[in-house]
Amino acid sequence: MSRGENIVYIKKEFTLKEYGIYKRFKDITFSEIERIGLPNNPSIRKNYRIVKDYAKHIYENIENGVGLFMLGDCGTMKTTMSIAVMRELIDDNVDYPPSCYFISMTNLLDTIFSMNNASKEEAARFERKIRNTDLLVIDDLGSENTEYNWVKSKIDSIITERYNRMLPCIISSNLTFDELAKTYASRIIDRLRSANKALIFSGQSVRS
Ligand SMILES: Nc1ncnc2c1ncn2[C@@H]1O[C@H](COP(=O)(O)OP(=O)(O)O)[C@@H](O)[C@H]1O
Ligand SMILES: [Mg+2]
Repeated sequence: MSRGENIVYIKKEFTLKEYGIYKRFKDITFSEIERIGLPNNPSIRKNYRIVKDYAKHIYENIENGVGLFMLGDCGTMKTTMSIAVMRELIDDNVDYPPSCYFISMTNLLDTIFSMNNASKEEAARFERKIRNTDLLVIDDLGSENTEYNWVKSKIDSIITERYNRMLPCIISSNLTFDELAKTYASRIIDRLRSANKALIFSGQSVRS
């Protein structure tokens, strides 16, 4: 790798981190997914076409508050596809790009919790970002510890506020609608179902 390439590489990683996208996912784009080749799983292939079409109309979808609600088995490329959608926004050179942010559910709560102990101000700033960003990717809903009521009411309030302001989310989960409705208020899950395109992923994990 020449020196110049190296600098570009570091810059890209640094930029992606600001969107919550970490090193493991730094190369994920639709073209990279296609270069590797889609696995031979009918549900992944069908959903991939829908997600790609969603990304093709991303500005319109954001304007209309439409997101994605991706449920299903582990290792069926839900996280991968949500990052590819973000990259459509991040890599597009428009003057006033919509903002977007990726966060896993466990990370979201850890961050709010640890920041609350450290600095209330920093916690509030972080929470504002989660509430206000144009497109929020919430990865692995249901994987977090919901023993504490403050967790459920925090998630409830963030999702409700974004729903009312028509700010879209891309949500992924390994749980079913019924399982999610048992953990959260079913009203919240109904909201997510009505505002977003719901996609069900099934099959064996394609993780290598
Ligand atoms: N064409 C592809 N592009 C990207 N990842 C792929 C591709 N085919 C298979 N994979 C595998 O898919 C896995 C990613 O799954 P992931 O998005 O984490 O699933 P989920 O979020 O549904 O649990 C990776 O481990 C990767 O090896
Ligand atoms: Mg995932």
